[in-house]
Amino acid sequence: MTPLPREQFPAVNRWAYLNHAGICPLPTSSVEAMHRQAVEVSLDGEFTYAAHSAAIEGARASAAALMGVPARDIAFVKNTSTGLGFVANGLEWSPGDRVVIPDGEFPSTLYPWLALADRGVVVDRVRGPLTTEAFAETIAAGPPPRIVVTSWVRFGHGGRVDLAALSRVCREAGALFCVDVIQGLGVIPARLEEWGVDFAMADGHKWLLGPQGCGVFYVRESCLDLLRPLEPGWNSVAHREDWDNLAYVPDVTARRLEGGMPNIAGIAALGASIDLLLSAGIEEIWSHVDGLCERAAEGLAGIGATVLSERDAGYRSGILSVRVDGMPVPLLAERLKARGIACSARSGGLRISPHGYNTEGEIDRLIVAVREIFA
Ligand SMILES: Cc1ncc(COP(=O)(O)O)c(C=O)c1O
Repeated sequence: MTPLPREQFPAVNRWAYLNHAGICPLPTSSVEAMHRQAVEVSLDGEFTYAAHSAAIEGARASAAALMGVPARDIAFVKNTSTGLGFVANGLEWSPGDRVVIPDGEFPSTLYPWLALADRGVVVDRVRGPLTTEAFAETIAAGPPPRIVVTSWVRFGHGGRVDLAALSRVCREAGALFCVDVIQGLGVIPARLEEWGVDFAMADGHKWLLGPQGCGVFYVRESCLDLLRPLEPGWNSVAHREDWDNLAYVPDVTARRLEGGMPNIAGIAALGASIDLLLSAGIEEIWSHVDGLCERAAEGLAGIGATVLSERDAGYRSGILSVRVDGMPVPLLAERLKARGIACSARSGGLRISPHGYNTEGEIDRLIVAVREIFA
C-alpha cells in the first residue's frame, strides 16, 4: 500500500515515474476538477462564477492547511517566479540594500534580485553547504541585509535548509525571510508561519501534483503592507464586484495581489491535488518518500554509484542525486526513459524524485536498469 492511491495516477501504467522535482503527472481527481469546471462554463458561462469563486476559497483553505499558514495570507499566482517577482519588485529599495542568497540556486530564485542592480541593490552569495552557520556568516559579513532568500530544497541535489533555525538568524539581523518552497511543499511537512517565514511561493506542477502555471504565494500578514501590489485590478480591492466604486482600496488579505480573473480551472485542479495530498497525510507521504530515496541511495551505491545528495536526516529531501561514472548523465537519463523510467539529469547527477504513490518495486527497477545499462 502506498500513501497516495496508485489508481489516481494513470502514469503508473506507462512509467516508473521518479521525476516529481521536474513536472509531475496529474492525478485523475485533478484532471476531473479541471474538466468539470470547463464543462460547467461551456454550459452556463457567467452563471457558474459564484460557485467557482466559492471553490477557490476551498482551495485556498486546503493550501493554507498544507503550508501551515492562515488562508487569508495566501494568493494564487501564475507560478513561483511570479511570487518571487512580487516580493523583489513589491518591496521598496534604497541603493546599497543587501540581499543574501545561496550560490547554486535555481535561476528563477536568483534573477529577481540580480534584476534590482539598477536600483543599487547588492546581492551577496552564501558559499558552500546550506548550513544555518554558513548563512549566518554571510549575513554578518556586511551591513544587515534587507532580505534573505533561499529555496527550501535545492533543485539539483536536494539539500534542505533548516527554515526555523535560519528564520531566527534573519530576525536577529532584522532581515526579511523569503523562501522558494517548490521543491519541498507537498512532500515534506510544512509549518511556514510557525517557522518564521515571511514570504513563500510554489507552483503546482511538482510535489503539489497540480497543473503547470498555477501556484500559491504566502505573505505573512505583518509583511503584506510592505509589498506594493504590482498588478492591481478589480479582484484586488476590498469592495470587489462593486463595479461603480472606483476607489482604490486594496483588500486587507493577500488577495490584493491577485489582480484580475483568477485561473479558475487551474485552481480547481490544484485544490483537488492538494486535497489528495492532505487526505493521504503529508507525514505519511514524507516517511514513504524518504524510505524510497534511502532504498535508491543504498541500492545505487551498491552498484558503484556515488551519492551526491546530503543524506543527514535534517538536510535530506525527496530528491536523491547520484553520479555514475562512464556515461554523460543526460544520456543515462535518456536510456532510462527508453526503459520506461522517468528521472532527470541536473547539476551533474541523475536526479531521482519519487512521490507517495511510487513503490519499492519501481526503485528496484531503476537500480536493475542502471546496472544493466552499465553492464
Ligand atoms: C527551486 C525552483 N524554483 C522555481 C522553479 C520553477 O519556477 P516556476 O514555477 O516559476 O516555473 C523550479 C523548477 O524547477 C525550481 O526548482
